[in-house]
Amino acid sequence: MLEVIAHLERDEDFVLAAEVDKKVVALAEFKIKKGDKEHPIGAIRIIVKKGYRNLGIGTELLRILMEQAVFFGLRKMTINAFTTNKRAIHVYKKVGFIETGIIPERHLRQGKLIDEIIMEKQIC
Ligand SMILES: CC(C)(COP(=O)(O)OP(=O)(O)OC[C@H]1O[C@@H](n2cnc3c(N)ncnc32)[C@H](O)[C@@H]1OP(=O)(O)O)[C@@H](O)C(=O)NCCC(=O)NCCS
Repeated sequence: MLEVIAHLERDEDFVLAAEVDKKVVALAEFKIKKGDKEHPIGAIRIIVKKGYRNLGIGTELLRILMEQAVFFGLRKMTINAFTTNKRAIHVYKKVGFIETGIIPERHLRQGKLIDEIIMEKQIC
C-alpha cells in the first residue's frame, strides 16, 4: 500500500517521497520558476523505482502535486519527457497535461537522437 511519508516545503520547491512496505519507491517534486512573480510556474520531476511502476503510484503522486500547486498559488505546471517515453506521456495526459512543444533531437541515447516533449497544465 502506498504511503506518502514526507514532504518538504521550501521557498522554491515541494518534494514528496512515497513508500511501500517501508521502502522508499518514488520521489516527485516541483520547483517554482520565479521569473514572473505574478505568474509562478511549477516544473515537475518524478521517478518511480523499477518494480513499482504501473501500480498507480506515479498518477497518485502527480495528483498530490496538483493539489499542492493550488495551495502554492501556481498558475501553471510543466513537465518534460523523451517522446519515446509513452508511459510517462500517457500518465501526464491522464492527469490533465497537454503537449505544448517539442524540442527536436534534444537527447542522445545509445547513438540515437531523441526529441523532448514539453507538457503543461493550467492550474488557475
Ligand atoms: C513515468 C512514471 C513516473 C509513471 O509512474 P507509474 O507509477 O509507473 O504510473 P501509473 O502506474 O500511475 O500509470 C501507468 C499508466 O501508463 C500506462 N502504460 C504503461 N506502459 C505504457 C506504454 N508503453 N504506453 C502507454 N501507456 C502505458 C498504464 O496502463 C497506466 O495507465 P492507466 O492508469 O490509464 O491504466 C514511472 O513509470 C517512471 O518513473 N518511469 C521511469 C522514469 C521516468 O520515465 N520518469 C519520468 C521522466 S519525464
